[in-house]
Amino acid sequence: MSRLISISILILIVLSVSPALSELCNPEDKQVLFQIKKELGNPSSLSSWLPSTDCCNDWVGVSCSFQTHPNRVKNLQLYNLNLPKPYLIPLSIGNLPYLEFIAITNNPNIVGTIPPTITKLTKLRDLYIRDTNISGHIPHFLSQIKTLRFIDFSNNKLSGNLPSWLPSLPNLYAISFENNRISGTIPASFGSFSKSFALMMLSNNRLTGKLPATLAKLNLKIVNLSQNKLEGDASMLFGSWKRTENINLANNMFAFDLGKVGLSKMLESLHLSHNRIYGILPKELTSLKSLIWLDVSYNNLCGQIPQGGKLQTFDASFYAHNKCLCGSPLPSCKHF
Ligand SMILES: *[C@@H]1O[C@H](CO)[C@@H](O)[C@H](O)[C@H]1NC(C)=O
Ligand SMILES: *[C@@H]1O[C@H](CO)[C@@H](O)[C@H](O)[C@H]1NC(C)=O
Repeated sequence: MSRLISISILILIVLSVSPALSELCNPEDKQVLFQIKKELGNPSSLSSWLPSTDCCNDWVGVSCSFQTHPNRVKNLQLYNLNLPKPYLIPLSIGNLPYLEFIAITNNPNIVGTIPPTITKLTKLRDLYIRDTNISGHIPHFLSQIKTLRFIDFSNNKLSGNLPSWLPSLPNLYAISFENNRISGTIPASFGSFSKSFALMMLSNNRLTGKLPATLAKLNLKIVNLSQNKLEGDASMLFGSWKRTENINLANNMFAFDLGKVGLSKMLESLHLSHNRIYGILPKELTSLKSLIWLDVSYNNLCGQIPQGGKLQTFDASFYAHNKCLCGSPLPSCKHF
């Protein structure tokens, strides 16, 4: 009996130290991952990446495909690596041919530019490089990755202009370049994103000039252009036929007649403060059932705040500092 127990213990030990018996991880992918780890200086945060363990099951930040391309690395998440000194994005990342998802996030010591080897990833759908210190332009070679759906480069030090080729990506759903140093105007080509394009997040950059009229064709769910130096008309972003839930244009120099825009029935949040927007507040605001946030302060709006719906539930400060807005929750329109 005790011999049987010791044999079973022996088998268990053998199984646990030699995953070769049960390992799923594709050996080529495993080699590439070791190369990636080496390029990052073998950080202790990747101590689970061991020759003796299965990259598909045991490695932090790695997961594999089980259906279409069994046991090929599909997702790679390099999150919060605590790198002790600056490193580039590992070039070897381009050698994981079945990768669909990359997230390099919360790594202040990731620096340099986005490497061209990434274009070898012909199945890549989601590319997140956020909260790092990468710099340089948004590279043109990304236009070769036709499968891209999500591009999130927020909270970095990217500069240069917005790439006019972005709408050539047929599956693109969302871009976020928030909190970078991107300058210049929004390209006219941005009016030709595919129908599925829904999220345009460009806040806190150095964008200037007028919005192209072509943007009228977009049917966005969320648009955030706040904290730039954009000016002129932004009414083309609105439309009663659109699915827009969230518009944030705050802290720019937009000037247009708000009384003339059509409002999406799905509008939840409208943030327009600190602009030069004029006209009246549209009466349709009172019929928006999902509206939870409204801030039109610091503009040139005038006339009575429409009474009804959610409009009187917002604090007076969200209507304050306009030319002559009046009525609840602001003081009443005595002079009318
Ligand atoms: C970029 O690096 C600086 C130090 O050089 C650091 O203070 C900052 O947090 C880093 N930025 C990000 C987004 O992590
Ligand atoms: C838009 O950008 C501002 C400023 O960067 C940020 O505070 C806000 O959370 C962003 N998102 C939305 C949905 O407004």
